[in-house]
Amino acid sequence: MIVTIDGPAGAGKSTAARMLAKRLAFDFLDTGAMYRAVTLAALRSNCDLADQVALSRLLESIRLDMPPGRVHLNGEDVSDAIRTPAVTAASGAIASSPIVRKKLVEWQRQIAAGRDFVCEGRDQGTIVFPDALCKFFLVADPQERARRRHRELTARGETVTFEAILAAQEERDARDAARDIAPMVPAPDAIQLDSTKLTLEEVVDRMEQEVRRRREPPMPPAPPPTPMAPESQESEDPVARIDSTWFKYWHEFLYLPYHFLFTLGFSLRTTGMLNMPKTGPALLVANHQSFLDPLIIGLVARRPLVYLARKTLFRNPLFAWMIRSLNAVPIDQESVGKEGIRTILSQLQRGRPVVVFPEGSRTDDGNMQPFKPGVHLLIKRTQAPIVPVGIAGAYDAWPIWRSYPIPAPLFMPAGPGTISVSLGKPIDSSHYAAMPREQALQELFDRIHAEQQHAEKLRRR
Ligand code: C5P
Repeated sequence: MIVTIDGPAGAGKSTAARMLAKRLAFDFLDTGAMYRAVTLAALRSNCDLADQVALSRLLESIRLDMPPGRVHLNGEDVSDAIRTPAVTAASGAIASSPIVRKKLVEWQRQIAAGRDFVCEGRDQGTIVFPDALCKFFLVADPQERARRRHRELTARGETVTFEAILAAQEERDARDAARDIAPMVPAPDAIQLDSTKLTLEEVVDRMEQEVRRRREPPMPPAPPPTPMAPESQESEDPVARIDSTWFKYWHEFLYLPYHFLFTLGFSLRTTGMLNMPKTGPALLVANHQSFLDPLIIGLVARRPLVYLARKTLFRNPLFAWMIRSLNAVPIDQESVGKEGIRTILSQLQRGRPVVVFPEGSRTDDGNMQPFKPGVHLLIKRTQAPIVPVGIAGAYDAWPIWRSYPIPAPLFMPAGPGTISVSLGKPIDSSHYAAMPREQALQELFDRIHAEQQHAEKLRRR
């Protein structure tokens, strides 16, 4: 997948491209650096910059490598050597050479083939990658660009006047825009952004939003609710009743006694109830401390939720009845495997909120355990908002090794046996779409952990 950023020197392309690539977990290609490296090679070998035959021979004899953020010319790191004023001045002639452009376009396509890249330059959206997913043309006021360049050069210890920079820049812009081959023009389908009044952060925010929007296919509309699904559909959608009116009333009816029970028995405290979307799908991701968790989350969400439960839990008839009343969908595996992910996604597509416990099973020491890797697939695939849920105290009230829960002493406001739960602000799932697995899982873990800590504080207050 390719994203292109073209535009004049000094508009902030390189920094924006680098930041965008990092956010999307793409690679980054600075094509200006390639023209500069060829220029350096030509200057070093005293090659006539206008002699196309000599340039062609030069191109045959050099090797360019573009490791992340660097440029290697025949194995030598020339990342700094290509930034001198002499190279900048001579690069215009090299960039106007048809033979050089042909070769560099070829190399750029080879480098990016089959990979995810943010490519920055002058002709990336027009010539090199006309089918790019997303094209940006970044501009800025000439005075502002020259000021930035002046600051950059003086910081490097070079003595050069602002006027000289502005004049050289005007000349370069004019030449870049007027050259016959690959002139610097925005592609017709490029999005123009002006970095004069926007901070770089804002520029990259806009770019990132647009790329993510284009990457994600639109969410299919939720199918209409199935009122009391007929028998034949029951096996496909074991919790079809959740959409029926009678169930909504039943849920409301049960809500009060359950709330009463938990408030009295466990001094249940809740926070962040407003973070629960009132309608539509939501993926509630929670830490798992005890068998009480599904009930607790149900109380704070105030909507009928869907859970997954492994089939073995349905063996005991009483327990089976209980978890069925909680809209548990039976699955074969221990934790969320492929089958579980399919089930969850199909429930979300039906517009329902689903609860998952990414640790896979209840904690055996009260601490959060690492998330199962499959969770990454789920948060990558879903388009539903992700609601982080933190539960505290449920492990003390019902640790995994005890076969029954012990409630807090009556009217005990805080401390042992009390439970609290915190719902965090919904996360746009596209946030995780392009992230590498480890990073996405770690970020999600940190979010849930933060909610859990928040709940823990609430419980001790
Ligand atoms: O962006 P930068 O200043 O590093 O570019 C160096 C030279 O390469 C400039 O003269 C620019 O016009 C040229 N260039 C180009 N096509 C690109 C990237 C840079 O002609 N895709």
